[in-house]
Amino acid sequence: MSGEWFTASAPGKFVVLGEHSVVYGKPAVVLATDRRITCSVRRSRRNTLNGDYLDFSRQPHFNYLTRDMNHCLDFLTVSEIPSGSGMGSSAALSAALALAIRSERGEFPTELFLVEEAYGAELHAQGNGSPMDASACVHGGGIAINVDDGGKELWTISRNNRTWKVTDIDVPKLSFVIGNTGIKAPTGPQVDKVRRYMNRNGFAADIIDEMGDVTMEGYDALRKGDCERLGRLMTHDHKLLSILGVSCKELNTLVNASLPYSYGAKLTGSGGGGCMVALTDRPEKVAEIIESRGGTPYIIRSGSEGVRMEAGVAKGTPMEIPMTR
Ligand code: PMV
Repeated sequence: MSGEWFTASAPGKFVVLGEHSVVYGKPAVVLATDRRITCSVRRSRRNTLNGDYLDFSRQPHFNYLTRDMNHCLDFLTVSEIPSGSGMGSSAALSAALALAIRSERGEFPTELFLVEEAYGAELHAQGNGSPMDASACVHGGGIAINVDDGGKELWTISRNNRTWKVTDIDVPKLSFVIGNTGIKAPTGPQVDKVRRYMNRNGFAADIIDEMGDVTMEGYDALRKGDCERLGRLMTHDHKLLSILGVSCKELNTLVNASLPYSYGAKLTGSGGGGCMVALTDRPEKVAEIIESRGGTPYIIRSGSEGVRMEAGVAKGTPMEIPMTR
């Protein structure tokens, strides 16, 4: 006997500025995208994922989010977000799953509860990190972390002596193009790489501090709609991320190819592969250039709604579940 389906969806995200340094409590600016993950759950006799037996030991997100569950569930997951690419597939999966699972239990969770669930699932899967992705995928729109002025405060999350104050920001009317290298790079190893670098190299902390300053200045430029300044800061941030060792040849190729037609460009997300983002007023041209260099372009419509319930059941190609450490 199977129960009724409960379906929820959540948006992906891209980081305008602040990935990696946000793990150390520095500021960040993130926008939700129009690509979503949709998850359906229903009560069942056994646990299944997209029609196959679900092995919880191989699926840390599912494992964490059902940790206090005493009945079995069927799960369906459909995604428009490439996995392991820095576009928030793991946080969007966690946010949509958390809402669908709690709704199936007759609960009405708050945004903060869902952020804590999604962040917990992310930490369980990747070992270390900030609540930035979980906050962006739950809340949608635009968020900033640890900026002192502007925006409505949403929540504050603390862990391991770090604190992240999350605020809602107005979504800027700027045009961004994502370029996917097609190289899958899970988040955990990239975050670990920066941590090891911080532990053995005295000046790594200076790079992280500088990234924090660049992000604060970029946030100011974004609020003033100053594309030239924001673009310059994004490109500068890409150089700092490269010094930390999280860029790669393919990301640099797409960033460099976009720059003549953009205000600025950088990797977005954890790097090592995955995606870059360009700020431009010539999105079609940048998309064409990215494609000509072997990348897959997406012209981004930013500011999508956060996690929400959906009618019916998830339909489409079953999602490739994000890689884990
Ligand atoms: O690559 P993504 O989408 O998982 O983004 C990770 C962002 C980091 O700052 C590198 C890690 C984090 O938890 O904040």
